[in-house]
Amino acid sequence: MSTAWKRTPVSAAGRLGRADEHPGRHDRDYRQRRDALAARAAGHPVGAPYPGVQYTEDEHRTWRTVYDALRPAHQAHACGAVLDALADAEIPAEGVPQHADITPALRARTGFALTLAGGVVPNERFLGAMEHGYFHAVQFVRHPAVPLYTPEPDVLHDVFGHGIHLSSPRIAELYRVIGRAANRVRTAEALDILSRVYWYTLEFGLVAESGTPKTFGAGLLSSYGEIGEHKGREMRELDVRAVASTQYRISSYQPVLFAARSFSHLEDTIGEFCAEFDDETGQRLGLPRLPRDRG
Ligand SMILES: [Fe+2]
Repeated sequence: MSTAWKRTPVSAAGRLGRADEHPGRHDRDYRQRRDALAARAAGHPVGAPYPGVQYTEDEHRTWRTVYDALRPAHQAHACGAVLDALADAEIPAEGVPQHADITPALRARTGFALTLAGGVVPNERFLGAMEHGYFHAVQFVRHPAVPLYTPEPDVLHDVFGHGIHLSSPRIAELYRVIGRAANRVRTAEALDILSRVYWYTLEFGLVAESGTPKTFGAGLLSSYGEIGEHKGREMRELDVRAVASTQYRISSYQPVLFAARSFSHLEDTIGEFCAEFDDETGQRLGLPRLPRDRG
């Protein structure tokens, strides 16, 4: 697991950006805080206990700003499966929750728990932990100067995106299905293919409802600027071969999004692909070998 500030390695952990674009790059106090919280994850075993964070009033204020912006945006733009999950998700309005406050509700609904990440987690660990009901989440908060944008996953992304997802048994099962497939394969190429399926569905997927693409992915749900704004993007119907052949961008808005015809279509697409997935799937389907640097 990398906790480095300088470099943005390839990962399926969420939306990432380059350090030179980070709003906190010239803020030494912010960087120290962020890096100290990230460093806690070094060598941390999946599922092991870890301490909470004494969040500052500034961090709680950032949370409230994002909460106030996202709640109506979710109601306006999220798909039905997410709205159902939201009704059950216990997201506090007043400030940044501890992971330990979020996990018991997830465990009760779907068996999932948050486990500590420092930022970027290698595909094998990140995806593989999902089979066993662990989702890697960070503790640090985005820079307060730009509360509605983050170039890297932060605790707000993890809670407003994945925390909502993992309150729903149907959505949580998709995480497990991808995790199961990840644990079946050995090659980096196979994991890369799965990371693209993960990225274009669970992170940035859409689900059509009455012909309108509605927001599903965690990266969209947690990004006020992206949740309902798809102008200038290529929108394609979900096709797993196309997804598995499409490189994703980690440092800017996604130029291509894929919309399932329905939530059942999304479930079937991920389920069927992952059920048969192995190290030879890419070759069998004639998928291109894509460069590994997506920065
Ligand atoms: Fe994410």
